[in-house]
Amino acid sequence: MFSSKHLLGIKNLTKEDIQQVFEQADHFKEVLRRPIKKVPSLRDVTIANLFFENSTRTRISFELAEKRLSADTLNFSASSSSTKKGETLIDTVNNILAMKVDMVVMRHASPGACVFLSKHINASIVNAGDGTHEHPTQALLDAYSIREKLGSIEGKNILIVGDILHSRVALSNIFCLKKLGANVKLCSPPTLLPKYISSLGVEIEYNIEKALAWCDVANVLRIQLERQNVQYFPSLREYALYYGVNKERLDKLDKKIVIMHPGPINRGVEITSDVADGEHSIILDQVENGVAVRMAVLYLLNQVRVGEVTSVI
Ligand code: CP
Repeated sequence: MFSSKHLLGIKNLTKEDIQQVFEQADHFKEVLRRPIKKVPSLRDVTIANLFFENSTRTRISFELAEKRLSADTLNFSASSSSTKKGETLIDTVNNILAMKVDMVVMRHASPGACVFLSKHINASIVNAGDGTHEHPTQALLDAYSIREKLGSIEGKNILIVGDILHSRVALSNIFCLKKLGANVKLCSPPTLLPKYISSLGVEIEYNIEKALAWCDVANVLRIQLERQNVQYFPSLREYALYYGVNKERLDKLDKKIVIMHPGPINRGVEITSDVADGEHSIILDQVENGVAVRMAVLYLLNQVRVGEVTSVI
C-alpha cells in the first residue's frame, strides 16, 4: 500500500513507494499497448484537474491517464474561472468538491499550494507542479524512463543541466534519484543554483564538457525566463555557448549518453534540435511513459483513499 493518500512531492515518499509506482506503471504500460486501452480501475471515481498555471504535457497526460482508468473527470483552467473575480483558492476548491469530487490534480504557481490544500480538504491531492517547489509525477516518469532505458537507476551517473534555481523538476528529480541510489551532478551558471543545493547530496560541475563526460544520462532543463525577474546571465546566446547541450559537445565524448528533457524545449538555447531529436534522445519516451506513471499514481492513491473510506464505514 502507498504510504500516503496524497502525492504532494517526492521528498516524503519512501523508496518502496517509488518502486510500487514503477511496478504498477509496468502493468499499465502493458495495458496501453492493448487494442482496448481502457480498464475499469477508477470507475465511479471523480477527479478534478485544476490548472491555475499553463501546461501542455502534464494536463493532457493526467486527463488521458484518468480516462484510461475509467474515472469521471472535470477540467478547470484558471484563465476562464471566477478566480479572475477574486475568489480564493479554498473557496474555488470547496465549491468544486461540493460536487462530490474524490481526487484533485492541481498545478499552481505558488510553492506549497498543494500542501496547503491537503490541510483543508478531504480529497486526495496530486501535485502537478507547484511553483519552484516540486513536480513529483515528472520526476517519477523521468526515473521510470531511465530505468526502462538502462535497466536500473542505482549507481548510474545522472546530470541535471540548466536552470536549477527556478526548476521544480530539478528538485523532485534530485529527491527521487537519490532515493533510488543514483549519483546526481548539477551543471548550471552559479547564479542559477540555489544556495542550499549542496545540502541535498549532489555534486556541482560548472564545466559542461566535464559534466557530460561524467554522466550516463543528461536531463536538460529549460531556462525559465518567465520566472526570472532579474538577469542571471548576460544573454541566451552566451548561455547556449557555455552550457548548451549540442552535437559538437556530444561527438567529443568517448561514449553515448541518454538525453532527456521534461519539456517545453527552448530549441537552440539549452539544447539543439539535432540532439533533442537525435537517436539518443528519450524525450518522447518520457511523454509516453507519463501516462502509465500517472495511471499508477492515481490508482495507488485511490487504494489508500478507498481504504480510509471503508475503515470509517
Ligand atoms: N513537463 C511539464 O510539466 O510540461 P507542461 O508544463 O507542458 O505540463
